[in-house]
Amino acid sequence: MKIKKAVIPAAGLGTRVLPASKAMPKEMLPIVDKPAIQYIVEEAVRAGITDILIITNRGKGIIEDHFDHSVELENMLSKRGNTQMLETLNNVANMANIYYIRQKETRGLGDAVLRAREFVGSDPFAVLYGDDVIIGEVPAIGELAEAYEKYGKSVVGIKEVSDELIVKYSSLKTEPLKDKLFRVTDMIEKPSLDTKFSNYSILGRCVLDNEIFDILEKTPLGVGNELQLTDAMRTLAVEKGMVGVDFSGTRYDMGNKFGIMKANIEVGLTHPEIKEDLREYIKELAKTL
Ligand code: UTP
Repeated sequence: MKIKKAVIPAAGLGTRVLPASKAMPKEMLPIVDKPAIQYIVEEAVRAGITDILIITNRGKGIIEDHFDHSVELENMLSKRGNTQMLETLNNVANMANIYYIRQKETRGLGDAVLRAREFVGSDPFAVLYGDDVIIGEVPAIGELAEAYEKYGKSVVGIKEVSDELIVKYSSLKTEPLKDKLFRVTDMIEKPSLDTKFSNYSILGRCVLDNEIFDILEKTPLGVGNELQLTDAMRTLAVEKGMVGVDFSGTRYDMGNKFGIMKANIEVGLTHPEIKEDLREYIKELAKTL
């Protein structure tokens, strides 16, 4: 079954990037000239997803504005004959059918996903975490959707991470399946180094069967007194088995300061307008370090 619907949770508090995220959602922080969440919507659209639900909360109205028309700006660009930028802005407003719902209390990623129940209906669906940008030739969520179609099981996007990071993320029990595919039979959120299964962690993408909603309803609050999506996915992994895809793109964590800097530098080095200048600048700067 083709995956046509996606959910982007973007209702977190973003405390790790304060004060930048005080009045501006971290999902709107720019990578060179586009907000993080636009890269994520573009990835979904490239993978053939047509309907996207963004989970927001108070103060995230500018996400809605970004994916809407800006009549004043568009009129001005049209008057000045800047057709290229006009087209760029029009494309942003017409990328997909984008819907919004508010998570009224910040009760965790699992709770945010639960808000999508009516939107999703009986279909399997993609989840793209709003602060994880993945840049690659092929859309990461498309690689996961392909694995879902092939194996008929829920899928998580995975990468090997350092010990330092695994304790902040999730850890997966995996067995190799084929190439970059793994069978996932158990998982734990924010493990200690004693309780980790492996250094494979879920990084920002999954494709889930809609039975996840029934499981989420029954899942008790977990780490941080929040409803953890990982805890519900664990039930799926243990009872039915899941598939892990070591996706091919590079993932940037826009939820922490260093991730934001890396994303801007690396994407900047490929951006046609600034790549030459940035390269020269970094080379000169490096001499002084
Ligand atoms: P994070 O785990 O990074 O949580 O969320 P956070 O609260 O935004 O960040 P910190 O720890 O305070 O810095 C991963 C994704 O899930 C969303 C976030 O917006 C982010 O895109 N999320 C998280 C929600 O939508 N609702 C929540 O209750 C929690």
